[in-house]
Amino acid sequence: MQAGKILAVGKTSDLRAQYEAREELDLSDFVVMPGFVDCHTHPVFARTREEEFHLRCAGADYMEIAAKGGGILNSAKMLREIPESALSDTVSRHLSGFLEHGTTSIEAKSGYGLSTESEVKSLRALTQASAAHPLTVSRTFLGAHEVPEEYRDRREDYVDLVINEMLPAVEGLCESCDVFAEPKVFDRQQSRRILTAAKERGLGLRVHADEIEPMAVAELAVELGADSADHLPRISLAGQEALAGSDTCAVLLPGTSFYLGKRVHAPARAMIEKGCAVALASDFNPGSCYTQSMPLIMTLACVLLHMSPEECVHACTINPAASLHIDDQVGSLHPGKSADLVVLDLPSYRALGYSFGQNPVVLTIKAGQPVFANMREREPDLFTNQEQNLPNFEG
Ligand code: NIG
Ligand code: FE
Repeated sequence: MQAGKILAVGKTSDLRAQYEAREELDLSDFVVMPGFVDCHTHPVFARTREEEFHLRCAGADYMEIAAKGGGILNSAKMLREIPESALSDTVSRHLSGFLEHGTTSIEAKSGYGLSTESEVKSLRALTQASAAHPLTVSRTFLGAHEVPEEYRDRREDYVDLVINEMLPAVEGLCESCDVFAEPKVFDRQQSRRILTAAKERGLGLRVHADEIEPMAVAELAVELGADSADHLPRISLAGQEALAGSDTCAVLLPGTSFYLGKRVHAPARAMIEKGCAVALASDFNPGSCYTQSMPLIMTLACVLLHMSPEECVHACTINPAASLHIDDQVGSLHPGKSADLVVLDLPSYRALGYSFGQNPVVLTIKAGQPVFANMREREPDLFTNQEQNLPNFEG
């Protein structure tokens, strides 16, 4: 690498013959792969919501808690109280958490402000935190994350506020716009209005789609040329076909269905077989998925979505990078791209997803610089690498 960029890729012997390294790092016992690209996160929040987690574990439903003023509204209350500089410090700590789990680029949403003032505060705090941080951050305005208390009886007025006041106010503070499209939150027509207005202002579109109740949102995302349709446990067959014939990426968030205790998961296999571009993301947020670990998300993708390690690699690197239009800079190890690497304490990428609840990251490198290191001692020869002597299940 040179000046933070990958200079060449190839066999060690070929590279040694061509270049003289100023410094060499022997990582031959580790997996070295592109830093993870997490293309769906909500890191702009003030405080956690563990009490709701325990309410859900005791049987309460996520949407029920939301309807009673908990959930996103609870986060909005806490966000409205915190000063911008303190919020920026909190966000900065969240950004560092991503590096610890091998993620070198993220998409980050606002959405706990739910007023023009607090949405602007959220995006400014995010902008300030990311400007001083090595992580690459693509910012998304999510003013339509929930309908605030004071608009519950006049929801269309809130949609008007998002379109006429918030969208102009967040200009220059975000690259994309997202909507939580759900029958009980923003219905299809309201979602369409907000997304169309955002598109007219030149923003990229990302949509919380067909998560809890089906509403043909994947189809809407394709129709509007969105960069991604996210969640998708309730996607229709027509929605899968629409995605397959489009440039809209299916962003799957198995951590959320798991953490909410849902038994319906996105039909990843069907979507991959139809030819959809599939990405995986953490959905890191204080309510429905409190993790920043893409390795954990890969375990859930293997177990719950039946994805292979090869599919997980693509879904955590180049596919999400393409959905954010940063695939010319990150997402794969190619000369000229940013030297964003994650070094994993695994014998082969085939071991991705196998261990869980443990952080396999030993080193994260962003633009050629080490930004996180965890140099624990490794047990030699623990992994058997049984690829060659697997029983034959086919005959
Ligand atoms: O993607 N569902 C909407 N947004 C988040 C949850 C936000 C929250 O509960 O704080 C999600 O799951
Ligand atoms: Fe989300």
